Amino acid sequence: MNLRSLVAGSGGYLPRRVLTNDEISKTVDTNDEWIRERTGIRERRIAADGELTSDLAVQAAEAAMSDAGVAAADIDLIIVATTTPDKTFPATAAIVQAKLGVDKGAAFDVQAVCSGFLFALTTADNFLRAGAHKRALVIGAETFSRIVDWTDRATCVLFGDGAGAVVLEATELNGDTLAARGVITTEILTDGRLANLLHVDGGVSSTGTAGHVRMQGNRLFRQAVERISSAMVTVGKRAGVAPSDVDWFVPHQANERILNGVVEKLGLKRDRVVSTIAEQGNTSAASIPLAYAAARQDGRIKDGDLVMIEALGGGLTWGAALFRA
Ligand code: UT7
Repeated sequence: MNLRSLVAGSGGYLPRRVLTNDEISKTVDTNDEWIRERTGIRERRIAADGELTSDLAVQAAEAAMSDAGVAAADIDLIIVATTTPDKTFPATAAIVQAKLGVDKGAAFDVQAVCSGFLFALTTADNFLRAGAHKRALVIGAETFSRIVDWTDRATCVLFGDGAGAVVLEATELNGDTLAARGVITTEILTDGRLANLLHVDGGVSSTGTAGHVRMQGNRLFRQAVERISSAMVTVGKRAGVAPSDVDWFVPHQANERILNGVVEKLGLKRDRVVSTIAEQGNTSAASIPLAYAAARQDGRIKDGDLVMIEALGGGLTWGAALFRA
């Protein structure tokens, strides 16, 4: 049987606390104008004390399950993409599994920083198409505020907390690969030689601490537009569609200027780009499913629309995926 992973539902969750640019400018040497002009960010959400990555993930997962009309008993695979797990172990996915009351199948984390959702989606898609599992929760969840150095103005203005999720369902592929709903093709890539562009300066086996985010923003920026565009072209070619012909572009939300760079390079339609960066900042692995869920909920993305997602993050990791909503 030829299987296809249908994106059966989506959902997002943002913590209540809003942190504005003006508030950050009271603690580090920055200002609202610089942050808006250089990044497009106006505000971001910050998880409450005691609110964990798994808590955000569970909220997003429940929203996605309700959107898909499925229950905990229907889920047999949970993949959480996160760089900010509740604990070193067990996997945040295992904690989420227990909190959701899912009692079968597998649950594990994927670590690809801002590309995490793309890597998790690709993993789940392959598991489902192989017939190993039937219905997956693919979640991107982060409390990046906990690894940000709040004295470093170059990074602390960028990140926010949140979670997004989709339900992926194995369905029989009927008919044309491009016309049928579901995941059409994905491309994920890593170049570990560029790890120093974005990393944390700690870890379990090195410092025994979680560490703080360190970034060579300008060098990373230059890599981003190039590599993201190239992955999108690869995915498009494989599916037989030009990136400019997709209905919706749902990018990882790192910087408004990166989005605009990709839009210009590939001739995408600006009004077909889903951007949440102004209100959410960079939520790392959560940003793509959060943006997708928002655009589904407000009716922009409809059943059958062709959607391209992309990301680039620490590792260096990057890639793109094409699916029909
Ligand atoms: O999600 C993972 C992928 N992430 C990315 O791909 C992020 C890529 N990088 C970026 O988004 C941008 O490089 C940043 C937004 C991080 C920085 O923007 P930039 O235009 O590349 O600025 P820059 O790092 O070249 O810094 C320009 C100036 C510097 O001052 P001098 O040396 O010119 O005097 C910085 O010190 O801006 C200064 N600066 C700031 N000024 C006010 C850096 N951060 C701030 C700040 N407020 N928050």
